[in-house]
Amino acid sequence: EKGTYPHYMLKEIDEQPAVMRKIIQAYQNEAGELSIDADILEAINASDRLYIIAAGTSYHAGLVGKEYFEKITKKPVEVHISSEFGYNMPILSEKPLFVFISQSGETADSRQVLVKIKEMGHKALTVTNVQGSTLSREADFTLLLHAGPEIAVASTKAYVAQIAVLAVAATVAAKHAGHDVEFDLIKELGIVANAVQAMVDSKEAIEAIAKDFLATTRNAFFIGRNVDFFVSLEGALKLKEISYIQAEGFAGGELKHGTIALIEDGTPVFALVTQKPVALNIRGNVKEVVARGAKPCIISMEGMEEDGDTLVIPNVHSLLTPLVSVIPLQLISYYAALHRDCDVDKPRNLAKSVTVE
Ligand code: M6R
Repeated sequence: EKGTYPHYMLKEIDEQPAVMRKIIQAYQNEAGELSIDADILEAINASDRLYIIAAGTSYHAGLVGKEYFEKITKKPVEVHISSEFGYNMPILSEKPLFVFISQSGETADSRQVLVKIKEMGHKALTVTNVQGSTLSREADFTLLLHAGPEIAVASTKAYVAQIAVLAVAATVAAKHAGHDVEFDLIKELGIVANAVQAMVDSKEAIEAIAKDFLATTRNAFFIGRNVDFFVSLEGALKLKEISYIQAEGFAGGELKHGTIALIEDGTPVFALVTQKPVALNIRGNVKEVVARGAKPCIISMEGMEEDGDTLVIPNVHSLLTPLVSVIPLQLISYYAALHRDCDVDKPRNLAKSVTVE
């Protein structure tokens, strides 16, 4: 039930701090340490490469997940769009483990890949919000998102849950494999939960941004580097889905290789600045678009903000920034859609789970 909320999407955005806390709790053992099933740990560590398979927002979460398994677990990862992978399979490694990410667990494009790789004799782990869903039943292992039912077509809390659960799995697998993990994920996710709360409490400021940048625009760009690029893809998808504004997410350095031709006077460009090693580069990319007339909305992280930035998100661990930086983008999309009189929870042409290939 959406209770006093005008839309499920807003309710689900607001639930995200609680979802973060729920995940910390659900994946803690009696000793207060993060843990996942031993079978899953063994499958991850016995594999020589993870193949993350997903669609839409879940694919975007998978891109962030790759960072975790490569940086924390030292495990090579490929991330693929399910509708492409099944019909054009790359050369697989010797001991692949397939990781299906799906909020609903019912996405047909992902299921056809699962069927194929099972026929080939490979093992699969499904990361899903729905216990007993098709992808969960047909895989060897399941990790649950614990996000609670997600009703709005635009996925919000499932995305942050997917990223958090992948961070937990990567960290626990790293310890299991004997790698040093330099941070305390329980503590860091606690800091994230508070930062997410601060963002959902900033609705007025974010609504004002949506009004200022998106009330009448035809198109919009989202740019970032490193994980900020992946969040840019998600920000653009969210905006397209519910406001029908044409939006594209780009790697900051890639825009100038063609797409910058679309920048006109007043074109909104949302830039994320949460990654210190590339902060100067992305700010350089912002200058390039501003020189062509773009209207920049800079969302930076505390500690690397500059005068003139539009919004500053609280400081969190550099690998976990997507969990926080996505929140203002979700809210910007929500308010843009609202002010354009769009049907926020049930956008045109879309269904909550896509059960056809
Ligand atoms: O249920 P799934 O996670 O497998 O769904 C995948 C996509 O259809 C889904 O994420 C879609 O992109 C959302 N509507 C995005 O908000």
